[in-house]
Amino acid sequence: MKNKWILITGASSGFGAATALAFAQSGANVVLGARRVDRLEAVAKEATAAGASSASVHALDVSCSGSVGRFLEWVKTITPQIHVLVNNAGGAMGLDTVANGKDEDWESMMQTNVLGVLRVTRATLPLMVPFSTGHIINIGSIAGRVAYEGGAAYCAAKAGELQITRALRLELSGTNIRVSTVDPGLAETEFSVVRFKGDEARAAKVYEGVTPLTAGDVAEAIFWVASRPQHVCIDEMVMKCTDQAAIHKVNRKIKS
Ligand SMILES: NC(=O)c1ccc[n+]([C@@H]2O[C@H](COP(=O)([O-])OP(=O)(O)OC[C@H]3O[C@@H](n4cnc5c(N)ncnc54)[C@H](OP(=O)(O)O)[C@@H]3O)[C@@H](O)[C@H]2O)c1
Repeated sequence: MKNKWILITGASSGFGAATALAFAQSGANVVLGARRVDRLEAVAKEATAAGASSASVHALDVSCSGSVGRFLEWVKTITPQIHVLVNNAGGAMGLDTVANGKDEDWESMMQTNVLGVLRVTRATLPLMVPFSTGHIINIGSIAGRVAYEGGAAYCAAKAGELQITRALRLELSGTNIRVSTVDPGLAETEFSVVRFKGDEARAAKVYEGVTPLTAGDVAEAIFWVASRPQHVCIDEMVMKCTDQAAIHKVNRKIKS
């Protein structure tokens, strides 16, 4: 990936930050967006130390069309071409049943995981199509494939991401642009702390007695998908930790 331009959304923590480092180690230019610019700057510093050709950051809120527009205008001032777009920004808010669901949680999940992917992809395609190459890697979830109680809106959002990936691959047929989704299961990042709105004890329970995926595991998979030869497209990758046989079947080694 030496000298290639890699745009990663949600690069201020978790999978996005680890993916920035994975590409940096191969000598790529990483272009990073998220709302917390101080965190992005720290990731960029690490990426530079890890060997990135360049590491550039700019504020990005994928839930806002104006912010996405400003972000891409800035991207165009540093490069005319993006080789890999990782649509990673997103997450879950709350674990309420539909009966108890909150509009603001539902709207936030749809804005980031669904509309954010659409907006950033639309704005980035002009930096891929004229070059007849590019790779869009969306970050889905096993939640987009199997429903769970309390997950209605998040599962719907990630199912939306999966169908966007599939539709986009059809629309881009003949352009030489690849479209992939990487769909992880249980992974320990800030995901659960965000979901439970800062309740760290509740978030820690999600991973109790389990050896979950790490952000590095997922970043390695994203990098592998991106680094296949041009004629190979990994359409959909599902990855789970060994302790998670299925969304509801998690082997917890809790001492009694
Ligand atoms: N961890 C898991 O178990 C798991 C499993 C499957 C899929 N996923 C998915 O993987 C992706 C990354 O999650 P993660 O586990 O790495 O969680 P994380 O550590 O909470 O990272 C989420 C990232 O998304 C960014 N983000 C959130 N809302 C945003 C917005 N409106 N605009 C721009 N950036 C935004 C956050 O940055 P700012 O807050 O700075 O904006 C942060 O960098 C998400 O799409 C998530 O749904 C996670």
